Amino acid sequence: MTYQDFGLVNTNNMLNKALKHGYAIGAFNMYNMETFKAILAAARETQSPVILAVSESALDYMGDDILMSMIRGANIKPNENIALHLDHGHSYEICAHAIDMGFSSVMIDASKLPFKDNIEISARVAKYAHKHNVSVEAELGVISGHEDKNTKSDISLFTHPDDVVEFVLKTNVDSLAVAIGTSHGAYKRKSSTEKLHFDILAKIAELLPDFPLVLHGASNIPKELVKIINTNGGEITNARGIPIDQLRQAVTMNVCKINVDSDLRLAFTAGIRTTLKLHPDSFNPREYIATGMGMVYETVVGEITDIMNSANRLFND
Ligand code: G3H
Ligand code: 13P
Ligand code: ZN
Repeated sequence: MTYQDFGLVNTNNMLNKALKHGYAIGAFNMYNMETFKAILAAARETQSPVILAVSESALDYMGDDILMSMIRGANIKPNENIALHLDHGHSYEICAHAIDMGFSSVMIDASKLPFKDNIEISARVAKYAHKHNVSVEAELGVISGHEDKNTKSDISLFTHPDDVVEFVLKTNVDSLAVAIGTSHGAYKRKSSTEKLHFDILAKIAELLPDFPLVLHGASNIPKELVKIINTNGGEITNARGIPIDQLRQAVTMNVCKINVDSDLRLAFTAGIRTTLKLHPDSFNPREYIATGMGMVYETVVGEITDIMNSANRLFND
């Protein structure tokens, strides 16, 4: 099967359009029917392109057939500009498998390997992907924090601007995830004054003009959601995300794909906790899960509008 059979589009066409017009595409992580429906409904409501991001562990959780059946069941049309993206693929094999399943882009995350090995595997993935008109994201530098069950990194190794041109030329990848101080999860900054390394981003953008850059670990960690969780029995302390003004600044510097997972996890949890606290006698999962799904939908609509600036972009050239 190819991604065109599912009505999906080539991710890089979306990214290049976003780059040209100065907005970003949200790559929102999905891992079940509820997150899928919420993200898709938000994209449709706002008339925004969107990337459905599926991590290796989310793919394990859903199973290939269930994921692709859901995608098919949603009757996605190419003019809706929806992409399906493998997030943090750690091997050539998983990337090739995702391409064969019908993903429209893959990320090969070999960022922890030595530079030469990262080039070798990223180039191999790009060669296979391009044969299928699928686009490829790679990562240079290490984005710290919790990534998934296969990848946990406690160090933060910023991208060296001196490496980026050689890397892109030798690998032929279509977009590049850069490490400029973001991190995965809900605990991104020790203090509220900590800023992203815009000096590094500026150098990369200068060396790679018109090239799509990607920010991982870019959740904003909305304080309202953390508060709802904590007032309804949760205990999330010292959570701190990337401020919206810094995300918007990054978008002016060639960042045109922004990855968001933790914000949606918080929204889902906040909805479920609220309903269960309000109705301690409830044991109907469809009721409390629906509240979680509704909060994921609201969060995606809000971020498409306030962070990505990608609403009403379906018909731009
Ligand atoms: O950056 C990665 C995502 O947050 C995926 O996490 O493997 O737990 O789905 P996950
Ligand atoms: P967050 O943990 O900041 O949502 O990052 C998600 C991400 O980078 C997925 O690849
Ligand atoms: Zn990531």
